[in-house]
Amino acid sequence: MELSSSVIRAKKWLDKNEVIAIPTETVYGLAASIYSKKAIDSIYSIKNRPTTNPLIVHIKSEKELYKYVQNIPVKAKLLAKTFWPGPLTLVLPRTDLIPDYITANSKTVAIRVPDHPLTLELLSNLDYPLAAPSANPSNHVSSTTAQHVEKYFNTILPFVLDGGDCRKGLESTIIGFENGEPIVYRLGALTIEQIELVVGEVQIRKNLKEAETPIAPGMFSKHYAPKTPFFVVDNIDSFLESVTTDSIVYIGHQSRISNSKIKHQLLLSETGNIEEMASNLYKKLLEADSVGCDIIVTTWFENKNLGMSINDRLKRASVK
Ligand code: TXA
Ligand code: MG
Repeated sequence: MELSSSVIRAKKWLDKNEVIAIPTETVYGLAASIYSKKAIDSIYSIKNRPTTNPLIVHIKSEKELYKYVQNIPVKAKLLAKTFWPGPLTLVLPRTDLIPDYITANSKTVAIRVPDHPLTLELLSNLDYPLAAPSANPSNHVSSTTAQHVEKYFNTILPFVLDGGDCRKGLESTIIGFENGEPIVYRLGALTIEQIELVVGEVQIRKNLKEAETPIAPGMFSKHYAPKTPFFVVDNIDSFLESVTTDSIVYIGHQSRISNSKIKHQLLLSETGNIEEMASNLYKKLLEADSVGCDIIVTTWFENKNLGMSINDRLKRASVK
């Protein structure tokens, strides 16, 4: 089959040890060959990311997993077989094929098969896996469109592989293992309910505070934050009564409300579809951040299924 022309261009840059942006089903990534120390260094500097925060390795198929990790628990194999390609990252003991600088010297590596046709086509035509953190400056909202990536990294990247809007719009769910048992390090686009159907009950690592050493450094409590003060509340009416400003952006789940303090309203899904709400979340947050109001406000989701992952991101993005 003939390669897409954009994939050919992406490959050219990557083969020259450059960093480009790639689409995945979750969010866009800043990608480079895991074997180019130079390109990996520039990923860290472009993102302004602490070098102690390891990167996720993206591979083309589940079969490749066995080259890059070892001592794989049965439940990890089962999860990989069931959910790859898909929004699941597994943290497993690495082999010598993964360089130290990818994992911030950790003996484990975070690895996944992304589910995006262009990126899968790209990976199948490369001689190396791609390391890719989310395509945003550290502690900013992740990019779910090529335009967001361009806004953040305008002149810095030689190429953005445009794969349209990200279907899931939330980062992958990260799972590590202790004594063969799965532990969720980061909630994400694959829900706990979906995971438990396959491997039974799983433990969720509680939110880690900044002062502690995080298992997944991205679990620092402040993360994914817009510049405008962002409030997440139980009851929108009493919140509106309590604030003095009348320059508010309201992000509604499904329906508009009428209140003179609200200058802008954005809806996550007019049909009330939770998957659409998740996929629109970062886009709407970025949009809300750009209208120049004093504050952004939204309400909590019911804490189950995707609502649990959305609440996790709302918590990290909001004013405590
Ligand atoms: O959906 C995603 O996972 C996106 C797309 C591009 O694949 N990537 C992504 O990467 O969200 P990033 O770097 O923004 O978040 C990766 C998280 C970080 O919190 C990092 O600390 C954690 O994975 N991580 C990476 N390697 C790890 C390891 N060996 N052990 C524990 N956590 C790890
Ligand atoms: Mg990130």
